[in-house]
Amino acid sequence: MQPFDSSFNRLLIVSYRLPFTVQQTDDGTELRQNSGGLVSAVLSMAEQMGQRQGDSTAKIHWVGFGDASLQSADPATLENDAFVAHPVFIEEAVHNGFYYGFSNDLIWPLFHYFPSYASFKETDFQSYQQANTRFLETLTALIQPGDLVWIHDFQLMLLPDMVRQAIPSATIGYFFHIPFPTYEIVKLLPRTWRQALLKGILGADVVGFHTTDYVQHFLQSVSDVLELPIIGPRIVLPDRSVMVGDFPISVDFFKFNTSAQEADVVNTRQQYQQLLRQNKIIFSVDRLDYTKGIIYRLQGFEWFMAHHPDWQGRVTLVMTVVPSRDKIGQYQELKREIEETVGRINGRFGTIGWRPIIYSYSSLSFTELLALYTACDVALITPIRDGMNLVCKEFVASRHDHKGVLILSEFAGAAQELTDALIINPTDTQEVADAIQQGLEMPESEQQQRMIAMREHLQNNTVFRWSHNFLTAFADVSRYKPELETD
Ligand code: G6P
Repeated sequence: MQPFDSSFNRLLIVSYRLPFTVQQTDDGTELRQNSGGLVSAVLSMAEQMGQRQGDSTAKIHWVGFGDASLQSADPATLENDAFVAHPVFIEEAVHNGFYYGFSNDLIWPLFHYFPSYASFKETDFQSYQQANTRFLETLTALIQPGDLVWIHDFQLMLLPDMVRQAIPSATIGYFFHIPFPTYEIVKLLPRTWRQALLKGILGADVVGFHTTDYVQHFLQSVSDVLELPIIGPRIVLPDRSVMVGDFPISVDFFKFNTSAQEADVVNTRQQYQQLLRQNKIIFSVDRLDYTKGIIYRLQGFEWFMAHHPDWQGRVTLVMTVVPSRDKIGQYQELKREIEETVGRINGRFGTIGWRPIIYSYSSLSFTELLALYTACDVALITPIRDGMNLVCKEFVASRHDHKGVLILSEFAGAAQELTDALIINPTDTQEVADAIQQGLEMPESEQQQRMIAMREHLQNNTVFRWSHNFLTAFADVSRYKPELETD
C-alpha cells in the first residue's frame, strides 16, 4: 500500500462511542480499550502517520460521548499510549432524546427499512441538534490548523456542517456505517429534517459508505432534496465540492488468522467440542437487534429440524446474543420473543441428552469468540439489513484451516464481497433450512475452495486498506477547496 497523504498534523476521530471505557478496580481506575474495527483501523493509521512516537501530542485524539463510567474519572487519566479521549457530557434528558430517541428509535429503524418501528418526535430532533452541538463545542476547542477531523456514523449527521460553519478551512471526513436507504425511505422524514441531515453531511470534504448502492441512494437523495448538481462522484457546492465514494470496511485479517491458532483458543475450542459431544456446530452471534433477523433464523433452524429428523441429536445451534440498547421497547420485546422461540424449539425437539439450541444473552471474550468461529461447521449470519456485518469477515479470517461454511444474508453489505458464501434470503425460512443442510453436508474440498477464495479477498482488503483508501481520497479534494486559512 502506498502511504496516504500524511500532510495532516493530527487525526481527530469523532464517534458516538469512545475507544475505551473506564473500569473501577481495587487500585483505582483502568481503561479498557475496545477491539472493534474502527479502533484497529485508527491504530494502524496512527502508525502510518508516524504519530506514535511516545509523546502525548502524537496520540490520536478521540471525541465521543462521556458515559457514566467517564463521569467521575479524572480527565488527566483519560488517555493510554494510543488515544487521548475527549468525552462529551450530555445531560440525561437531551441524551435520551438524541440517542434512544432520534438516533435509535427513528434513524436506525428507518434506514434499515423498518419504517413501522420509526418514531417521529420533534423533541427528539431538538435533542439530536443539541447533542451534535455539544460534540461541536468539544471539537472546536481542540481543532488546530492541519488537523484531519474524521466524523463517524448516523448519530452525528449534523456535525460535519456545524464544523464547516465554525471553521471553514477545516478538513473533514465523514463515514456512514449503516445502510443509506433509497429516496423513498428518506422521503418519509419531514422535509426540514431531511434537508438538515443531508446538508449536515455535506459539510465534509469526503463522504464514505460501505457499498455502491448506498452511494447511489445518497446521491439521489441529495439531488432530489437539495437539488444540487452532481458530477460523477462529486456533489458541487457554490464554493467547493464533496467527494462521495464506497469504502467497504473490513477486519484485521492477520490478527484473527494468527490469534485463532493460539493455545488458549485451541484449548477453549477443544473444551467446547467435548461439551457438545463432537456434534456438528452451527454458530451465530449478533448484538440484540431486530435488523439481525434472529427470529427468521430460528424459524429456518426449526424448519431444518422438522424436515431432517436424521440430524436430530447430531447438530447444535450455538447462538449468542449480545445485550444492546435495552432501554428501547422494541429491543425488550425482541429479547422476550427470542427467548420464547428458543424455548419452544428446544421443547419441541430436545431430549434428556440433547438440546438443539444453546442460547446465551451475554458478551463473549475474544478467546471464546475465536474458539467458536473455529469450532463451528457452519456460521449462520442472516440479517434482514446490515450496513456491512463484520462477524462474517471475522469468521472467515479465523478459518486458517480452510474449513467451515458461511451462510450469509443477501442483505448484508458483506454479501457484495463474500460471493463464495451460501447466499440466502433471510426471510425465506425454507431457503435458510436448505442452506443449513447444504452447509452441514458440504464436502471438505468444496468448503476449502470457497473458504480460500473468501480469505484471499479479505487478506487483500483489510481494515487498514479501508482507512488508507478513505484518507487517500483527501488528496483529490484538496484542489477543490477554497484557499486554506492557516490560523
Ligand atoms: C452499529 C453502529 C455504531 C454503534 C454500534 C453499537 O455498528 O453503526 O455506530 O456504535 O452499532 O451500537 P450502540 O448503540 O451500542 O453504540
